[in-house]
Amino acid sequence: RSVGTGRAHAKLILLGEHAVVYGAPALALPVPQLSITASAGFSTRGGEPAGVSFTMTGSAWKQVETQASEGLRRLTTDFRASMGIDDARHLDVIIDGSIPLGRGLGSSAACARAVVLALFDLCGREVSERTTFELVQTAENVMHGKASGVDAVTVGATAPLLFQAGEARTPDVGCDALFVVADSGTVGSTKEAVDKLRESFRRHAGTQERFVRQASDLTREAVAALAAGEPAALGSLMTEYHGLLRDGGLSTDRIEAMVGAALAAGSLGAKITGGGLGGCVLALTQPERAREVTQRLHEAGAAQTWIVPLRRLVTHA
Ligand code: MEV
Repeated sequence: RSVGTGRAHAKLILLGEHAVVYGAPALALPVPQLSITASAGFSTRGGEPAGVSFTMTGSAWKQVETQASEGLRRLTTDFRASMGIDDARHLDVIIDGSIPLGRGLGSSAACARAVVLALFDLCGREVSERTTFELVQTAENVMHGKASGVDAVTVGATAPLLFQAGEARTPDVGCDALFVVADSGTVGSTKEAVDKLRESFRRHAGTQERFVRQASDLTREAVAALAAGEPAALGSLMTEYHGLLRDGGLSTDRIEAMVGAALAAGSLGAKITGGGLGGCVLALTQPERAREVTQRLHEAGAAQTWIVPLRRLVTHA
């Protein structure tokens, strides 16, 4: 094969981010309408030394090109070793996509997954979910320190999932609702956020245990609310979870304004999602309020918004 291709989508964390790093459960959703594609080929340019070049298209990608490439480079080295590609052929990988970077939407994991799938496709080889996960985690661990793995699984999932300690299962979904996702327009570094929380836990005895316990309780209650078809209960749990992340120093003024605006416009719940320190707000909303919520989020500073319907994700599973 002269070109291999791979694709992966964005993800949203409903509840459980950060606590999942310490072994707590996290509820996450795939976001099929935002994705990244990768195309891989052996270089046709003469004189390239054996290695890999990444070309990322789209201006937003430029900022993080070097940082992202480091993780991707590591996974490519592991891929070469596992496939026994020890010849002098150079790999060219082109990455393009619609997931904005550093917004808690899983761009780095999606990028890594798309590259893994493209590399195996190039070699005409099937790849197991386990191997894909491990290679994505190789890149994630370079970029994020120690990643829980929730992003690596969700960017390839076709249904909502409950993730804990490396294992994922599909939760029961008994209700319909819309998620309005609003981008604050500010990049947040997941690594910085994870390090910040860890440092604060280190300085204040007992805070890690309390955070993990409270976060786990909220996530478990949310799983029950989702199964029982109680969107209002799910919404309040999301807002409560936002409080935990805000108290952990992971919100920003713009995010606070956006969460407030979504709630004032009638959202059932709203929170920051993903790593934090910027990124996106996730608002759970009845369909008839979606227009108003979206408008208020824009007024509060959202740079762009998307609608993710829960029901569609479930019926497509
Ligand atoms: C990032 O999407 C989720 C975090 O919990 C980090 C992780 O799980 O590795 C903040």
